[in-house]
Amino acid sequence: MNALDIITKKRNGEKLCREEIDYFIHGYAANRLPDYQMAALLMAVFFQGMDFEETAGLTNSMLHSGDILNFKNVDGFKIDKHSTGGVGDKVSLILAPLVAAAGLKVPMISGRGLGHSGGTLDKLESIPGFRTNLSVEEFYRQICDLGVSMIGQTEMIVPADRKMYALRDATATIESIPLITGSILSKKLAEGIDGLVLDVKTGRGAFMQNFKDAETLATSLIRTAELNGLPTTALITNMDQPLGNTAGNWLETREAIEALHGNGPEDLVDVTFALAAQMLVMAGFAANVDQARKELQKLIINGKAFQKFCDMVQAQGGDLAFIDEPEKYPPSKIILPVLSEQEGYVQKLDARKIGFAVVHLGGGREVMEDRIDYAAGVVLYKKIGDFVRENEVLAELHTDRRDTVETIRKDVLSAFEIGEERMQKPELIFRVLKKSES
Ligand code: URA
Repeated sequence: MNALDIITKKRNGEKLCREEIDYFIHGYAANRLPDYQMAALLMAVFFQGMDFEETAGLTNSMLHSGDILNFKNVDGFKIDKHSTGGVGDKVSLILAPLVAAAGLKVPMISGRGLGHSGGTLDKLESIPGFRTNLSVEEFYRQICDLGVSMIGQTEMIVPADRKMYALRDATATIESIPLITGSILSKKLAEGIDGLVLDVKTGRGAFMQNFKDAETLATSLIRTAELNGLPTTALITNMDQPLGNTAGNWLETREAIEALHGNGPEDLVDVTFALAAQMLVMAGFAANVDQARKELQKLIINGKAFQKFCDMVQAQGGDLAFIDEPEKYPPSKIILPVLSEQEGYVQKLDARKIGFAVVHLGGGREVMEDRIDYAAGVVLYKKIGDFVRENEVLAELHTDRRDTVETIRKDVLSAFEIGEERMQKPELIFRVLKKSES
């Protein structure tokens, strides 16, 4: 077996067998194969695709390039949620403690924001002192003691994905369904979980901008997960406009705290509950999603979900003073309102433009090495369907960057499309896919 034959085979549209995929992935992870050969294979996969069996083989091969966590001795149903990424998506911060308060075990390994989309780790790290780099032993102990922990990918979890993702980024091969599937699922399978719920986003602020592509990705993820023995449900949800009323790390963490107190914006709460309810049903903690929602609501009202969040923050070294009194967090030097130039109903609110505005305000990264200003971001006062008068505040910019704030004000203003037509609030959850339907 050699790398050239395998690249040629895929280039010609032939199916790769398991041994060939293993040879390539493990050879690359162990530095036996050079970047240029992996780049050629990635491009061949990009154009020729992979069937479900090959994609499952790729995922499994990537998974076995590193350590797989073992929670077999931990009682209870271990489950995680993964989002394909968007703007204002702070669901994990609410959902993880919420379902842990219901009795599920949530060993969540999350990512950082890149480009226009935010990342859960950055939001958590906006809490002073919060450690996302726990050792595997600390992570394991916290899952046993608290039922929830949220950390970043360790060096030894799916090292093949680290190298492949960086190469994909540099070779225009990110947007490939089998490669995205392998990348996401290998990391989720490495958590050693019993079930997975996926939030596949579609719309302006998502990876998959149109619904058909999102559906294809959701189907690929479900089939591949099931072929690797992981029961999975996927929701396809709307990411045309940001989720909730904030985008930016601390602003979102603060909004998540509000949601845990029962005061979250409707769209954020709806998506969080829809995903969390599927988790309870999958774990056998509720007979159906309606019953699950009632359980979840109780855990918000009786304060147990918020308490679980506080316990997690404390266990991971975060300063609870800012959770108890979020208004004490040091604000940005500049807080600038974005005023509407006309009267009417908000027809569109471009999540992608808001996501990039957050980056340019200092709240995101253009390259992985960039430092983040945790207080920077955008607060939205109007969303699709809302009525706005001339000179009324549409949004507020939080930043320390005096030199660029005026340009960003114009960008954020252009993210809003305002017209005379009355608009319904957009549909939030387009589809729920399970094994039998995918
Ligand atoms: N998220 C990942 O982890 N990998 C991808 O390829 C795309 C999104």
